[in-house]
Amino acid sequence: MKHSAGALLSSIRLDRRASKSISVQLYLALRDVILSGGLRAGERLPATRTLAKETGVSRTTVIDAIDRLVSEGMLVSKVGSGTFVSDTLDRERPPPVTDAARAPSGAQPRVSYAINHADSAFARRSWLPHRGGAFVTALPALEAFPMAHWSRISARLMRADRGVTMGYGEPKGYAPLRRAIATHLSALKGMNCHPDQVFVTTGAQHAFSLIGQLLLNPGDRVWMENPGASGARNALLAEGAELVPVAVDGEGLVVQDGLEKAPHFRLAFVTPSHQQPLGHVMSLSRRFELLKAAEDAQAVVVEDDYDGEFYFGNAPQPALSSIDANERVIYVGTFSKSLFPSLRLGFAVVPPRMIDAFDRLFADWGSGPPTMTQAIAADFMDEGHFATHIRLMRRLYKARYDVLMQEAQALKGAVEVQETSGGFHTPAVLAPGIDEATVVAQAAERGVTLAPLARYSLTPLGQAGLVLGFGCASPEDIRHGIAVLRGLPEIAQKLD
Ligand SMILES: Cc1ncc(COP(=O)(O)O)c(C=O)c1O
Repeated sequence: MKHSAGALLSSIRLDRRASKSISVQLYLALRDVILSGGLRAGERLPATRTLAKETGVSRTTVIDAIDRLVSEGMLVSKVGSGTFVSDTLDRERPPPVTDAARAPSGAQPRVSYAINHADSAFARRSWLPHRGGAFVTALPALEAFPMAHWSRISARLMRADRGVTMGYGEPKGYAPLRRAIATHLSALKGMNCHPDQVFVTTGAQHAFSLIGQLLLNPGDRVWMENPGASGARNALLAEGAELVPVAVDGEGLVVQDGLEKAPHFRLAFVTPSHQQPLGHVMSLSRRFELLKAAEDAQAVVVEDDYDGEFYFGNAPQPALSSIDANERVIYVGTFSKSLFPSLRLGFAVVPPRMIDAFDRLFADWGSGPPTMTQAIAADFMDEGHFATHIRLMRRLYKARYDVLMQEAQALKGAVEVQETSGGFHTPAVLAPGIDEATVVAQAAERGVTLAPLARYSLTPLGQAGLVLGFGCASPEDIRHGIAVLRGLPEIAQKLD
């Protein structure tokens, strides 16, 4: 016993400059010694006075730490005889597995067959950004967000009726927010939807997962635009979808290609207002063709309108869901672009015949975004700040787009930046002989972010390209970014 106690005392290191209190440090150190077998079950702890002296702290501090371990059941205090390591540690604690005895899979947890299968096809998403600059994609102009309005509304709601903002909330989403979303969609897209059709989610990504959970069986065939959105791809894969890469041309998803590859599809995922990432707007005839194919296959279409608020020219095409006579289209929207991504706020608008099924899903096993966040967003919309912000951002993104297109002239011969009709990213085609991955790596070394087109492809596209984000890059950032691209060895040799 003496031997163990001595080892115990000498192994304890306390740091008076650390942010954790001395009592917490002592508690953690004693717990580590016990759990690592430095003190065995039934062994007696040195007296608190001895511990205090040896570790150089007050007896009260030692007693605090020991009391905490007693309350957790690691130590047992016996009146008159001292404090002992609990017998439970011997009797019930699973013995640690040695590396040699571990299964060949090593330290990895055993994941489900479904995820194991999906994982091999997942698009890697560790690139998702949190800071702007040239040519970061998927991030709005965070510096232009009207934080003063947001914080004022937020402060007001913190003092509001606690039953409204602090309880579990309505499963399908805070009613005033669902009403505000329905009003917004009617103005933006001519959608005539009832707030009961709106389901608030933690971002579009959550909506894709829920749609997959509700509608897909493992192995169901799902048409995906190729190239296309990587988040939706992963969400549907994780729900057991068998993805069918469908070609995209200037009119959007090539329905004929989908029909040739998988006529009996269960779901089609499309981005008709701004194809992700190529930027095409789906033509009206292609929209009707898709709706007809979905009706014939008894399939559902997921319309992802991730940046539809930001168009440069005339008002956009009406939503696919608003020309859908047969209730086959689920419209998914997000506040990640129109407000900011860390809100984790999105929504699905489901056709009337699907409301009951979604209501049950949300009520019985769903869990949405915090009601407080939803309430702030609702008031932000009701007070008109959302509409104003979108109007201003439309102008800002257009101005940044114009700078990009102007500056991109300097890349002619090597990089052809394509026109787009809205949003805040646009694709660029690389001249033959330029390697996409090399350009991306060379730019990254010089502090410029580029998205390779391959990131969005399910199968090789036979065309090297980039996707350039301009929403979160100032005109100076864009000019600097283009100058850097001009100087890259991979590009410089091909310039006109
Ligand atoms: C195609 C597409 N859909 C949706 C989203 C937004 O997803 P979330 O609402 O989960 O942030 C993005 C974000 O970049 C996107 O590119």
